[in-house]
Amino acid sequence: MKVVAGNWKMHMGPDEASAFFSRFTPDALGDSVRVVVFPPAVSLRTARAAAPKGVEIGVQNIHPEPSGAFTGETSAEMARSAGASLVLVGHSERRHVFGETDEETAGKVRAGLRAGLIPVVCVGETLDQRRAGKLETVLRRQVEAVRAPLGDAPSFMIAYEPVWAIGTGETATPEDAAEAHALVREALGDLGGAPILYGGSVKPGNAGELMASPGVDGVLVGGASLDPESFLRIAEAA
Ligand code: 13P
Repeated sequence: MKVVAGNWKMHMGPDEASAFFSRFTPDALGDSVRVVVFPPAVSLRTARAAAPKGVEIGVQNIHPEPSGAFTGETSAEMARSAGASLVLVGHSERRHVFGETDEETAGKVRAGLRAGLIPVVCVGETLDQRRAGKLETVLRRQVEAVRAPLGDAPSFMIAYEPVWAIGTGETATPEDAAEAHALVREALGDLGGAPILYGGSVKPGNAGELMASPGVDGVLVGGASLDPESFLRIAEAA
């Protein structure tokens, strides 16, 4: 079964989330695809209530602690109680815009598991790292940092998102994706049975060929997940 996940980033407040799901009707998809949506934290409860049965909801980021004096943060437990069953961890924007370290990423994986959330850990290289021939080193380091907590997880997913393909309209070729997914799977070792998703400028027009690529178990979609029709077309491509 393929996974089609949408990361709404900082888009879609509660009213828009509700309007999205009134137009997102994946009736014909059946059991062949697992659909997940990651709304902003303020829209979790509304999204959970409005999403059709079978669509899973996840939170985009959490703080490692369950509660405390951390103004502006959301804990895994709070996200869970607001309707999340998954958590995105280590998205490239968290790492590169907000300076999140591998250690913090590992802490967030532990926090998500403590609250019963399924972690979806994002990994991926920058263009400079790729050009310098560091693809394998970077992916290994990022996977290694979360391998111990993931070893205790009942289930988890990895999303390979090359930083240079996010929001740029540049997509990895199916061959690039297959190569990177194989490296991630190798780095995971005995945990390599987990689904590995591809993310980075996935659109209705390229989703099918990316998902047909060896080792690509689904997609993590940014921009194209904001429109119910295009997200539905991507889910149908699975
Ligand atoms: P785009 O699909 O907009 O490139 O975003 C990808 C992404 O970051 C999903 O998490």
